[in-house]
Amino acid sequence: MAITVGIAGITGKFARELASALLKYPDVTIKGYCRDPAKVPETLSSKVQLTKGDAFDTSAIRSFVAACDVVVCCYLGDGKLMVDGQKALIDACAEEGVPRYVASDWSLDYTKLKLGELFPKDPMIHVKAYLDAHDKVKGVHVLVGMFTEVFFSPRFGTFDAASATFKFWGTGEEVWEATTYQNAAEYTAAVCVDKDAVGVKKLVGGRATIREIAESFEKVYGVKLGLESQGSVDELYKHMHELRQKDPQNIFSYMFLFFQYYMINGQTFLGPENDNGKYPQVKPVTWEDYLRSVPKDQLLSAISNVGSV
Ligand SMILES: NC(=O)c1ccc[n+]([C@@H]2O[C@H](COP(=O)([O-])OP(=O)(O)OC[C@H]3O[C@@H](n4cnc5c(N)ncnc54)[C@H](OP(=O)(O)O)[C@@H]3O)[C@@H](O)[C@H]2O)c1
Repeated sequence: MAITVGIAGITGKFARELASALLKYPDVTIKGYCRDPAKVPETLSSKVQLTKGDAFDTSAIRSFVAACDVVVCCYLGDGKLMVDGQKALIDACAEEGVPRYVASDWSLDYTKLKLGELFPKDPMIHVKAYLDAHDKVKGVHVLVGMFTEVFFSPRFGTFDAASATFKFWGTGEEVWEATTYQNAAEYTAAVCVDKDAVGVKKLVGGRATIREIAESFEKVYGVKLGLESQGSVDELYKHMHELRQKDPQNIFSYMFLFFQYYMINGQTFLGPENDNGKYPQVKPVTWEDYLRSVPKDQLLSAISNVGSV
């Protein structure tokens, strides 16, 4: 069945992976929305209908969403973009009769968080509430845990390649849920073409403890990683709040610690049950599958290759 998918923020990493996953389906038309169409790689721009506009240009947004069967928001930015920018898209969907809107989520289960606990997820809580109260547009929320590429990136601070060590908080027995960008895009594409898919969809590549990830690392690369606990989960809570209090503007000094805390304390787990079985055409990419797909010396930089379509 022919379907038209609108992707807002088509210049982004996830958006480019999503467009590429959607193009594997027959009869899919893609419309893309962005501030600067020159940033869309030519391999993609030749296959999508692009509309230029900023996040608050209501008439450009209306012409972008017109005739779409589903609109997917792939924005990542400040609170105003993530809340008001998404509301502008949702309102345009209502005006143009677009029945489904996939929110810019792809995260741990933020529906179990209170506002203020994991501050970068507050906008998602607001947008979900806005969609839940909407009578014309149905919200879709694809929850995937963390992106596997983020876990291995230097900013996350857990994988120390120089000393071949995992530096983690807790006991090492806490479960980590993750999905690669590409795998999350494959699942999201499957959700887009499934016209009945609405509400929360838990689609997860893999679940493993730090110790199990280290075992996979040794199996795949033949290197035994050191395991170094930085402290207990309670000590992590204290440490991240101290860093925030000391220098609130320096968000990157503590933001990933907040993510780690709300993942390993179990509060935002998706599984063990999930919705993967609804989309058997997508193969979940586990932690070990991911390691097999990336040369060891490219683990730190793999995130910068995401979206090279
Ligand atoms: N679970 C995880 O571990 C994890 C990690 C990362 C991201 N995510 C989620 O994945 C999604 C996409 O992230 P990503 O990594 O693909 O992000 P990204 O590569 O940084 O892309 C962000 C997109 O937002 C657009 N954007 C930013 N500020 C804007 C503004 N003021 N007005 C209009 N557009 C603006 C960018 O457009 P320009 O090119 O014009 O700047 C770009 O298209 C988000 O929902 C994010 O929360 C999840």
